[in-house]
Amino acid sequence: QKRLIIDTDTAGDDVTSILFGLLWPGVKVEAITTVMGNIPVGQCTINALTTVEHAGRSGEVPVFEGCDRPLLRPLVQAAYVHGADGMGETNFPLPRQKAETEHAANAIVRLLNEYPGELEIVAHGPLTNLAVAYMLDPSIVHKVKKVWVMGGSCHFRGNITSTAEFNFYVDPEAAQMVFQAGFPIAMVGWDVCVRYALVGGEDLEKLKRIDTEVSRFYHQVNRKALEFNLANGLEGVTHPDSVTIAMCIRPELILKSGHYPVEIECHSEANRGFSAVDTRPAPENTPAWSGERPRSEVVLESDYREFYRMLTAMLSGDFSE
Ligand code: BDR
Ligand code: CA
Repeated sequence: QKRLIIDTDTAGDDVTSILFGLLWPGVKVEAITTVMGNIPVGQCTINALTTVEHAGRSGEVPVFEGCDRPLLRPLVQAAYVHGADGMGETNFPLPRQKAETEHAANAIVRLLNEYPGELEIVAHGPLTNLAVAYMLDPSIVHKVKKVWVMGGSCHFRGNITSTAEFNFYVDPEAAQMVFQAGFPIAMVGWDVCVRYALVGGEDLEKLKRIDTEVSRFYHQVNRKALEFNLANGLEGVTHPDSVTIAMCIRPELILKSGHYPVEIECHSEANRGFSAVDTRPAPENTPAWSGERPRSEVVLESDYREFYRMLTAMLSGDFSE
């Protein structure tokens, strides 16, 4: 059994990822922790609870609210992509379940100490909660089984700016702290997500024909983001967060990856949040090498057809294949 903590700025595709975690057989979500990002953290918490309810799991999975601002910077948000509620402006009724009172960062520290070596974290928002958890207890680096990070980009392809992906742009200091701390990280960048997890055309039409409550919920939540994408040259629904959890559930989805030092740009204004992935064969042999650069697994290629099959299975509730 896979046991996960999902850390999320719940809006748009974060919701699909939570659905994967809650519905995929053999996966247990121990906690959902929310962080500001796409929208204010309070709304992320409501959206996470709404998602738990729509998955038919109300009261079964605790939701912990986390940081309401980046470590150092004013908050930048993305309501222009997902709608003010982060849920395609569907304005769902308030969920019945309430959030826990413990702070998300404390919950992360507590759970990793309770179950050393057993839990994987799937991080879908700015890495602020994880950075704070690390500052509270640096030993968690060795207690988490793996941290799956949706963020950054291996090649020069950003979304919020030409060089930066949104999650790293919002809190570059948190991202840099997490990547230098020595966590066992797998990074899934925006470039990979656009290339191998953009669902449009006939594939999207087929998803629309799946007649389940979960599928209708998915289309409502992604409505605004789809409009935004179509107006901005992306021909379909993007699945950055959900392809990341899909890789965690089924690592065979990853067709190519490498272990590289990754640094997140915190000093330049133009390249704020850029992830410099050092793919050179032997960076150690260069004068600028510091000797203290942890490597992260960076995903380079993944299997679109297999991801689409997983998405179809999850939305239809038919996991027989
Ligand atoms: C990231 O930004 C968010 O809007 C998505 O959920 C994803 O985590 C992509 O840049
Ligand atoms: Ca997200």
